[in-house]
Amino acid sequence: MSMVAAFANHIPGKKRYNPSNNNLKSPHNKQSGKRRKHEVQLPITPCEERIVSELKTNDVLVIVGETASGKTTQIPQYIYNAGLLAEGKCIAVTQPRRVATISLGRRVANEMGTKVGQLVGYCVRFEDKTSKDTRIKFLTDGMLLREAISKKNLKKYGVIILDEAHERTVNTDVLFGLLKKIQSQRVKTPLKLIIMSATLNADHFSKFFDSAKVLYIQGRQFPIKTLYSKVTQKDYAHASLVTALQIHQEMPPEGDILVFLTGQEEIEHGHKLLTECNACLPALVPKIAVFCLFGALPTSQQVGVFSRPPPGHRKIILSTNIAETSLTIRGLKYVVDSCRVKQKAFNPKVGMESLQVMPISKAQARQRQGRSGREGPGICYRMLTEAEYDALAEVETPEIQRCRLSTVILNLVNLGINNVFEFQWIDKPPEQTISSAVTDLVALDAMTGSRELELTPLGKSMAAFPLSPHYSKMIIKSRELSCSADMITLVALLSVDSIFYNPQNKSDITTAVRQKFYNRTSDHVTLVRVYKSAEENNFNPDWCQRHYLNLRALQTAANVRKQLKQICKKIGVPLITSKKWEENICSSLLFGLLDNVAVRQPDSTYVSLSNRQQAKLHPSSVLCQLPPESAPQMVVYDEMVLTSANYLRTCSVVEEGWYQRLVSAKGQDIGSSGVELGGAS
Ligand code: CDP
Ligand code: MG
Repeated sequence: MSMVAAFANHIPGKKRYNPSNNNLKSPHNKQSGKRRKHEVQLPITPCEERIVSELKTNDVLVIVGETASGKTTQIPQYIYNAGLLAEGKCIAVTQPRRVATISLGRRVANEMGTKVGQLVGYCVRFEDKTSKDTRIKFLTDGMLLREAISKKNLKKYGVIILDEAHERTVNTDVLFGLLKKIQSQRVKTPLKLIIMSATLNADHFSKFFDSAKVLYIQGRQFPIKTLYSKVTQKDYAHASLVTALQIHQEMPPEGDILVFLTGQEEIEHGHKLLTECNACLPALVPKIAVFCLFGALPTSQQVGVFSRPPPGHRKIILSTNIAETSLTIRGLKYVVDSCRVKQKAFNPKVGMESLQVMPISKAQARQRQGRSGREGPGICYRMLTEAEYDALAEVETPEIQRCRLSTVILNLVNLGINNVFEFQWIDKPPEQTISSAVTDLVALDAMTGSRELELTPLGKSMAAFPLSPHYSKMIIKSRELSCSADMITLVALLSVDSIFYNPQNKSDITTAVRQKFYNRTSDHVTLVRVYKSAEENNFNPDWCQRHYLNLRALQTAANVRKQLKQICKKIGVPLITSKKWEENICSSLLFGLLDNVAVRQPDSTYVSLSNRQQAKLHPSSVLCQLPPESAPQMVVYDEMVLTSANYLRTCSVVEEGWYQRLVSAKGQDIGSSGVELGGAS
């Protein structure tokens, strides 16, 4: 790292924007008054000149600043207004999450006084709100990756900002390597890169870009007291809830409490428990208003989190790690950190991805702690002893080292990177994970070779879809069974958050109201049936609510479907359906998911034929409603999830003859897997 600048120290603290000495050259000067109105109070404001001048002299900048300091919304405007962009070039700002991308696009368009899609736009998977006038473009990291594939060297961009780099999503990690390569190739039209991060581990980014300059933005952080558990907590979730309740009763009534838990189930359980406690609180203690925050929560229920609590109440928010960096919640004073997170893990030996509850890293813990000190001094309670905390890893393992890489490798080979083992990874994934992805893609007939890889024509078509190659193969091949029109619906549904909203303890009701959609042998067909009904009902919100369906997810799926339709048209996949679509779609699943077939065992569990892992049908599967004597012998599953036990999620019954045919066409023998077939009958 060449230099560390404690930014705000170098610039007089009282400096404020003065419209009369503004010498901005951008065509957008007139609007800047509007922009400044928002900006004046942000921690980044005093850093504008410095950022602009550093960007003039450096090709790569790493900028570190806490969440809400103004990095994402202001820096693109600084660059644009300073006239740093060459004629016709744009600024790209990547985001890991689609929702954040859209909201930032709207926000910055509003600050600059333009409509979304004109000067400022956004582009997420399945939705493009940009035009030829767009100069500041917010897009997901996945979209920029796709642009890199279709438009060589990303010539359109003069500046690319990799935002939220600390999250280390797979796509951002691949972009690191790719952009470094592209930057070195763009001699005539130079490309500037900015890496932005909300946590302090910037050295790693700087080193990757040959000791790029790092700039720190001084945030607004009040002192925070941190308290550790005196003893090891076996039940971290329970301990977190008890602590929250204690804070509520013992601390002055001002200041809300944010509790970090790991998932929906834990959070809903906590919601119920704490809400019930209201009845037992002493008369003088205020009531508590409990709010949940997790990815699958319908938007309508998320709003409470951001509003003031009702009078005479203290707010307690139970959240997954989504409240760690990306959201701003006002009024917090206390953070209760379970110090756990539910995270993807990949075991390349068995080729299985799973979700596991793991300890967080110190960087994450600090991030969570920071949420309590934004508006005044805060207190953070960690559900670990100090010694346990000291033993935590400094930073979390990047996602690229703990997930399946089939999609990434397909994309890289499509980009002409034939030796994926030698790609410039910022952190190299395990060799075995890369090999496992190559094997997977060769088995899907997407590519040939072992080290010098090449895509087959089928592989090229598969790469046209922003999907896992298993899904794109299902779409392309389903035309052979005349159900491609239904398959794109299914894949759209599998690509979004669950369309089923399953509140705790209501499974009887939800099962009853959804009964009419059920296809007794297939969750996949059931999903498509729900979609078709929702479409017939014009995605009516009341109708969705009555059936416990997540409207937002359904609408997103509709949008995804539309885009898949366009891609099919572009690459010449006709969209067909027939009366036998339900049967055919089940058969077509095996075109992509031949490795996801499991057979029933005498103890009524299932064993996957490819990785020999044992698992149960997920209780939400329609197949669980079959009487034991008609339990299916062979099922295909969308995913195997590991929670308290292994579960097969989203399943359909497989016809054995069809499976055998596809397997022998591949030259494999089902008997060689050594798993007992059909043992339960
Ligand atoms: O990128 P960073 O986290 O440093 O900050 P930002 O996203 O630029 O946010 C600056 C300010 O704008 C914060 O006070 C945010 O709460 C606010 N903001 C907002 O109100 N709506 C958005 N969609 C984005 C930011
Ligand atoms: Mg940001």
